[in-house]
Amino acid sequence: MSTEEIPNKNEKGNIRVYCGREYDITDPKFAGLSKNAIKKLLKDEMWEETRGDRTREKREKFKQRRKERKRLVEEGILEPLPKRSKSKHMTIGNVGVILDCAFSSLMIDKEIGSLRQQLGRSYSANVRAEKESMKMTLTSVDDVLIKEMDAKAPSWRNWKNVEISSESYIEKFDKESLVYLTADSENVVHELEEGKTYIVGAIVDKNRYKNLCKNKADEQGIKTARLPIGDYIRLSSRKVLAINHVLEIMVTWLDCRNWEEAFMKVIPERKLKDCELINQNESEDEEQHLPEKQESDGDAQ
Ligand SMILES: C[S@@+](CC[C@H](N)C(=O)[O-])C[C@H]1O[C@@H](n2cnc3c(N)ncnc32)[C@H](O)[C@@H]1O
Repeated sequence: MSTEEIPNKNEKGNIRVYCGREYDITDPKFAGLSKNAIKKLLKDEMWEETRGDRTREKREKFKQRRKERKRLVEEGILEPLPKRSKSKHMTIGNVGVILDCAFSSLMIDKEIGSLRQQLGRSYSANVRAEKESMKMTLTSVDDVLIKEMDAKAPSWRNWKNVEISSESYIEKFDKESLVYLTADSENVVHELEEGKTYIVGAIVDKNRYKNLCKNKADEQGIKTARLPIGDYIRLSSRKVLAINHVLEIMVTWLDCRNWEEAFMKVIPERKLKDCELINQNESEDEEQHLPEKQESDGDAQ
C-alpha cells in the first residue's frame, strides 16, 4: 500500500488528504473525475504553486555557479568563456526572410514544440550574423503558435527587428519580390538577392507533406527555388533541411558568399556522414540521377 493510500486520520466526511493537503471531493472542479485524475489535478496545482520558489532557487544556484566560476577564472584555474558573438557590426541588410507559420493544423503537439525551438534558433542565428542580418517577418502566426511560444519561450515577445503578424505574406508583400524556398522546386537559388524576400515554410513534418510548400507557392503564383546543395555536396539522405538550418545557411552565405562553406558549416554531421564534395565541373543533372534514400530525416526536421 503506498503512503497516499493509507487512510488519513484527518479525512472526514467529504474531506480527503493528498500529500498533506486537504481537499473537498465535492468541489465542482473534481466533478466527474476519477480518484487518479483528482490526484493528478492536485499534483499539477501544487507544482504550479511552487513554480516561483523553484525559479528563485534556480536563479540563486545560477548566481552561485557564476560567482564560483569568476573566482576560479581570477585565480587562473579556469579559462574565461569565449565571448558570445553578437556581432558589433550587425546591420539589417536588404534581403528579407519570411517564416510562413500557416501550418499549425498539420502538426502534432510534439512537432509544434520542435517548431518553437527551430524558430528560436532561427531568430538567434539571424541576430548573431557576423555582417548582415535579414529583415525577418513571421506571418500567419495563429493562437496555437502564440500559446506555445508564450508558454515555453516567452522571451520571443522581446525579439528585436522581427515583425510578427497574423496576416499572410500575400497581404503584406509584393508577390514579385517573393521567392518560396523549398527542396521540391526545380529552380535553384544561386545567390540571395538584395530586395528579395525568401519564404521558409515554418513546418516540422518529418517529410510527411512532400510538395506542400511548392504547391502552395505555385497556386499563389510565387517563384520557388531550392538551395544549391546538390551543386556542392552529394548527400546520401534527402536534402530537406530543418527551418533553422535553412536560416543558418542563409545567414552564413550572406556573411561569406560561399555556399559550400555555408553548407559544410551548418548541415548536421549526421547528414554529412556519407557525403561527398562535388567537383564544380560535374553537372547537377548527373548528380540527380543518384537514388535518394527515402527514409525520414529524423530530428533534422
Ligand atoms: C522541414 S522543411 C518542410 C518540408 C515541407 N514538406 C515542404 O513542403 O517544404 C521546412 C522548410 O525549410 C525550407 N527548406 C528545407 N530544405 C530546403 C532546401 N533544400 N532548399 C530550400 N528550402 C528548404 C523550406 O522552406 C521548407 O518549407
